[in-house]
Amino acid sequence: MKNIIVTGGAGFIGSHVVRLFVTKYPEYHIINVDKLTYAGNLANLRDVENLPNYTFVKADICDYDCMCQLLRKHEVDGIIHLAAESHVDRSIKDPFTFARTNVMGTLTLLQAAKEYWQAQGWEGKRFYHISTDEVYGALEMTHPEGVDPPFTTKASSAVHHEAYGLKFFTEDLKYQPHSPYSASKASSDHFVRAFHDTYGMPTIVTNCSNNYGPYQFPEKLIPLFINNIKLRKPLPVYGKGENVRDWLYVEDHARAIDLIFHRGNVADTYNIGGFNEWKNIDIIKVLVRTVDRLLGRKEDEDLDLITYVTDRAGHDLRYAIDSSKLQRELGWEPSLQFEEGIEKTVQWYLDNQAWMDNVTSGDYQKYYDDMYLNR
Ligand code: NAD
Ligand code: TYD
Repeated sequence: MKNIIVTGGAGFIGSHVVRLFVTKYPEYHIINVDKLTYAGNLANLRDVENLPNYTFVKADICDYDCMCQLLRKHEVDGIIHLAAESHVDRSIKDPFTFARTNVMGTLTLLQAAKEYWQAQGWEGKRFYHISTDEVYGALEMTHPEGVDPPFTTKASSAVHHEAYGLKFFTEDLKYQPHSPYSASKASSDHFVRAFHDTYGMPTIVTNCSNNYGPYQFPEKLIPLFINNIKLRKPLPVYGKGENVRDWLYVEDHARAIDLIFHRGNVADTYNIGGFNEWKNIDIIKVLVRTVDRLLGRKEDEDLDLITYVTDRAGHDLRYAIDSSKLQRELGWEPSLQFEEGIEKTVQWYLDNQAWMDNVTSGDYQKYYDDMYLNR
């Protein structure tokens, strides 16, 4: 496979995927197709933007003619599809945009790929759709008090799973999305599978847990809170802060995508997660401690920034991924322990204040004009 479209490559996870592919596979041509919504930031790829095997195309995945044209022009054999609206809070305010991009955009891309690939035969083609664990809905917390998360290793997760009947998201679980975001992602997953079952398109779907790391837009918990702690702004904790998320370092997700794109079974589904469950409030305390320590402040000095606010509507209680299938079949496992990943992440945001300032001021949206139009 030589010519690969990565959609949403200017976003958080997409930029890590693009970076990994253009550096690891100089023989591949990576075409980053991104509309540059508020979440797209070309500065995320500054270090690789001049590589000869990288091309950026500003385009909307909902534009069928444009997608057909791009596939033909670049003789594309593979698509890694990450472009999406990705923030649950925004989906609560504006569900239509989520249906448009996540559902219609995915369908548009599928249909364009079908038109182009079917005539040539499916051999060597691949449509890899990146999805979320949120499609499975919310898990209960069945463990008794005193055995609360964090559960940060596969072994500790398994012990609690066995002892307290804790459930995980496994690949065979029924979809039960609750938010407009997860409903739109669930719908797109169904369309991808339908294109395999109906037309024989070689598809793969993966469902991953919450990612964290460099270049995440500061509307999501971890970068938002790191920045607020640094600036000593309030930390808005939804509800009681007891919701549990399973966190994975973004480069580990990108490594899994690389592995699955090349070696995953066609028509299969893989869950990707960190065996790393944390209550929000505990993560927030870790963030306060880490930022304060790295800035040379007194320990726990900023804990009083924690401010409990009205809960998110329909807030899913617990997500926890069982990624043993991926480990068993393809040998993937997370490379970083959470403490290590969080330290790296906090340090990155502190070292890259210019990136954060560019995003919060809105200046990052001029980058495309400067880079591609005004030269
Ligand atoms: P993000 O919001 O940071 O980036 C999304 C990118 O898609 C942006 O660059 C944006 O400009 C682009 N985009 C949006 N609409 C588009 C359109 N119509 N046409 C072309 N490009 C468009 O998202 P992310 O956090 O990097 O997530 C990437 C993918 O991974 C999404 O599909 C998301 O559902 C999935 N995912 C995310 C997480 C997570 O924790 N962030 C976890 C599991 C799965
Ligand atoms: P988020 O990063 O938005 O990811 P997701 O909703 O996809 O899990 O939120 C992670 C958790 O943090 C989630 O339980 C909601 C909570 N949260 C807050 O308590 N306050 C905030 O300001 C944000 C953005 C999230």
